[in-house]
Amino acid sequence: MTEVIETRGLKKDFARGDVRVHALNGISVSIAPGEFVAIVGKSGSGKSTFMNILGCLDRPSEGSYFLDGQDVAGLSADERAELRSHKIGFVFQAFNLIPRTSALENVELPLIYNGISRAEQTRRARESLDKLGLGERVDHHPSELSGGEQQRVAIARALVNRPKLLLADEPTGNLDSRTSLEIMSILEQLNRGEGLTVILVTHEDDIAAFADRVLTFSDGEVVSDESGARAGKRVRADGPDQETRP
Ligand SMILES: Nc1ncnc2c1ncn2[C@@H]1O[C@H](COP(=O)(O)OP(=O)(O)OP(=O)(O)O)[C@@H](O)[C@H]1O
Ligand SMILES: [Mg+2]
Repeated sequence: MTEVIETRGLKKDFARGDVRVHALNGISVSIAPGEFVAIVGKSGSGKSTFMNILGCLDRPSEGSYFLDGQDVAGLSADERAELRSHKIGFVFQAFNLIPRTSALENVELPLIYNGISRAEQTRRARESLDKLGLGERVDHHPSELSGGEQQRVAIARALVNRPKLLLADEPTGNLDSRTSLEIMSILEQLNRGEGLTVILVTHEDDIAAFADRVLTFSDGEVVSDESGARAGKRVRADGPDQETRP
């Protein structure tokens, strides 16, 4: 089976004044379809840098990255944008919704350049919002929504093109703990119910506990990669779910 993500020796340097910052120091990881992976580690350890490369928002200085078997380095900027729009949904800590624009229009946005009809755009955006329990909120602007609702709109937008990979960089970082758990159970349902591959960055142990696998970053390296019980996965009443996934 083709891995969704395969990186080999990924490095990323940034210039800061006269010094070079080694944000990533050789990251080699494989992530299979349907995995739910949490990335943890101290501030500045390279988590967002890694996520931005996975999301084709940035390019590595060295090393290779295969997304769904495709070598991303060999692609033009347009091809990368195309790949990003079809295969990846991205969710951020700050929601990144467009203000003074309805929830519906926010979710329609990724569809606009897809050559599908206006009516079909609206139908798909409504379907995506419905799925996130926001059917009654389609006409609301972000400022008229709670933090949890805004993040649900952002998730609806990330999923509207039916990507196979969802990247979430501290999606609960701006939410209270109860709302954070609501968002996490949505991600869990998408992963367990629909086989969506989820990679999430978090600082919170109870958020990381939703994942099947936890990668710990330190100084741009993966210093631990733990799966299952060792990752601190909660014991579920319905037993191990790894084998029963679609
Ligand atoms: N665009 C940039 N220019 C210069 N340095 C950068 C840039 N982006 C990140 N860095 C540096 O690279 C290192 C890794 O940053 P990164 O944002 O990936 O960390 P992080 O693990 O996501 O931290 P946090 O938990 O605070 O979000 C840091 O030293 C950071 O200052
Ligand atoms: Mg970060």
